[in-house]
Amino acid sequence: PRPILLTRHGESLDNVHGTIGGDTVLSDAGELYAKKLAKFVEKRLKHEKTASIWTSTLQRTILTANPIVGFPKIQWRALDEINSGVCDGMTYEEIKKNMPEEYESRKKDKLRYRYPRGESYLDVIQRLEPVIIELERQRAPVVVISHQAVLRALYAYFADRPLKEIPHIEVPLHTIIEIQMGVTGVQEKRYKLMD
Ligand code: F6P
Repeated sequence: PRPILLTRHGESLDNVHGTIGGDTVLSDAGELYAKKLAKFVEKRLKHEKTASIWTSTLQRTILTANPIVGFPKIQWRALDEINSGVCDGMTYEEIKKNMPEEYESRKKDKLRYRYPRGESYLDVIQRLEPVIIELERQRAPVVVISHQAVLRALYAYFADRPLKEIPHIEVPLHTIIEIQMGVTGVQEKRYKLMD
C-alpha cells in the first residue's frame, strides 16, 4: 500500500481575516504548521525515495511546502482553490449583506452554485480529473498541499463519498489526512498536528 497525504496549506492571512480566495502569505501559526508538516513528512516518507510534493500555484501552498526538503515539488493550477469570482476577497458576512441573492443561491445549492465570473464545486470536480488520473498512476507516495474546496473533492473521490456531500465535508486546517491505497481498498488516518 502507498500513502497519499492530503493537507490544506497552513493558516493564511486571509484565513485570519475570514476573507475567501486571495493569494496571501501564511500567518505565524501557518508558518509553524509548515515546519511541523515538514518534520512529519520527512519521518513518514523517510524510506520513500520517489515520493513527491504537489502544491497549487498559490503562495500559501508553496510556502507550506517550503520547509520540506529532499522531495521534488510540482505546482498544479488544477489544485488552486475554487475561484470565487466577484466575491474574491470578501467575508461570508459581506457577501450576505451586499449580495444577498448570491448568498442565498449558494446556500440552497452549494454543489452547483457558480460564483459570478468564478467556479462551482462541479467545475472544481471537473478540473481535478487530470490530477486524479495522475495520482492513480503514481506508484510512489504523494503529498498534496491544497485548499479546502479542492481537498473536499479529492477526498470524496478516494473515500467514495456521494457528490452531494462534497461541499460539506470537514477538512480542517493543520490536519493531515492519510489515504492508504491497498488491495483491500482504501483506509484513512487523520493527524492533527496543531490546535
Ligand atoms: O476560507 C478558505 C477557503 O479556502 C476560501 O478561499 C474558499 O472560497 C472556501 O474556503 C471554500 O469553502 P466553502 O465552499 O465552504 O466556502
